[in-house]
Amino acid sequence: MAQINRVRGTNDFLYEDSRKLRYIEQVFAQKSKNYNFEQIRIPIFEYTELFQRGIGEATDIVSKEMFTFLDRGNRSMTLRPEGTAGIVRAVIENSLINERAINKIYYIGSMYRAERPQKGRYREFNQYGIECIGTDNPYTDAEVIALNLYILNTLSANLNCSALESLELEINTVGCQSCKPNYNEALRQYLDDKKDSLCAVCQNRYEKNILRILDCKNASCAAVLENAPQIYDHVCSECKEHFDSLCFSLKEMNIDYTINSKLVRGLDYYTKTAFEIKSNYLGTQSAVAGGGRYDNLIATFNNGKAVPAVGSAMGIERLLIILEDSKLSEIAKSSLDVFVILFKESVCFGTTIINELRKNNISVDSDLNLRSIKSQFKSADKSNAKYCLIIGSDEIENSMATLRDMHTGIEQKISFDKLSSILYSLLHKN
Ligand code: HAM
Repeated sequence: MAQINRVRGTNDFLYEDSRKLRYIEQVFAQKSKNYNFEQIRIPIFEYTELFQRGIGEATDIVSKEMFTFLDRGNRSMTLRPEGTAGIVRAVIENSLINERAINKIYYIGSMYRAERPQKGRYREFNQYGIECIGTDNPYTDAEVIALNLYILNTLSANLNCSALESLELEINTVGCQSCKPNYNEALRQYLDDKKDSLCAVCQNRYEKNILRILDCKNASCAAVLENAPQIYDHVCSECKEHFDSLCFSLKEMNIDYTINSKLVRGLDYYTKTAFEIKSNYLGTQSAVAGGGRYDNLIATFNNGKAVPAVGSAMGIERLLIILEDSKLSEIAKSSLDVFVILFKESVCFGTTIINELRKNNISVDSDLNLRSIKSQFKSADKSNAKYCLIIGSDEIENSMATLRDMHTGIEQKISFDKLSSILYSLLHKN
């Protein structure tokens, strides 16, 4: 029978990759805590309508990238393509929105988009997302950006990662419900006699989602847009003020940024702030994180009652690409405290010792296939064991185990009843 392989655009995170993920996730958790963001976990699939209404029917995500299926009851379900819509559903459904004036949430999990796979773009990928729900203060937008940068800078410093030193923060305002139509109209008028020079996708966007033409990567579209009207000139005074305050807050926080007036992002729920953190290390899929404000999304699901919010998501696979040449691989090397070498005659006694050590929080492994001593030492080396403990018939007879320091090769005899305490202090002496 033919071998079954993983689905195109998905990844296996094997031992070392999983350890890398665990390290990064710990940094997410610690740094989120410093900003008082708390984790919640929500389902991987939701009713399709949540994403249709939340993200917008005309977006690429909803119109062509969702993994949608009918369940056994003929209800349309979709694997989440992003986290914000589900988080919004959860805070409303569980009344968190009424219980707390401000909800500061983070989440880590897999997302699904049927995009054409390439480096940094997968069909199953992982995000670290943060959402701050309940305030329209532009300082919050700056804080969301700051937390992303705090994490990236921490990783850069801890992992000696020069690739993380050259990140670019781009910000823009996309206006609000009341002023967005003004800009859309100005853009429509500007493009009216230039439509034919746009790529086929943008010709379609001209009809359905005109704002998205702005961030088309196609060279001919970029040329057409060179003298396009600027969003900032068409947004209302409230949006201008909000954007100016965001810029001011970022300056106060010593955060460098570039205003990219063409940054509009691929989800329809954004109002006012839109931002992306880009790395030239990533090639065409250059955004490691992106986000913005979504002051009207919650009203869509909350009986029309609007609650302002802002958030972002960071692509974990993209982060791992940037971290490829960093110290992360070294940190993520497997490690084991003790490898126990056993023989047929000592396996029974040895197993009780192993259990005792494990109960004392020492990580221990052995080769229960009881291969030759040479093979067992090889396994100890492979598992990066700090110590080898040899338990043979001599050791049992003398009530003393032989402990070998795998780094120095020095051996010593230790009586069985002192093993746990001696090993524990040896392992924690630094
Ligand atoms: P997004 O820009 O669609 O925003 O995704 C955020 C990040 O997820 C991207 O910058 C990228 O690093 C990563 N990403 C997106 N698609 C893929 C893919 N196919 N393969 C690998 N990585 C990918 C959102 O998802 C919004 N929910 C962010 C947000 C939260 N806005 C407000 N709150």
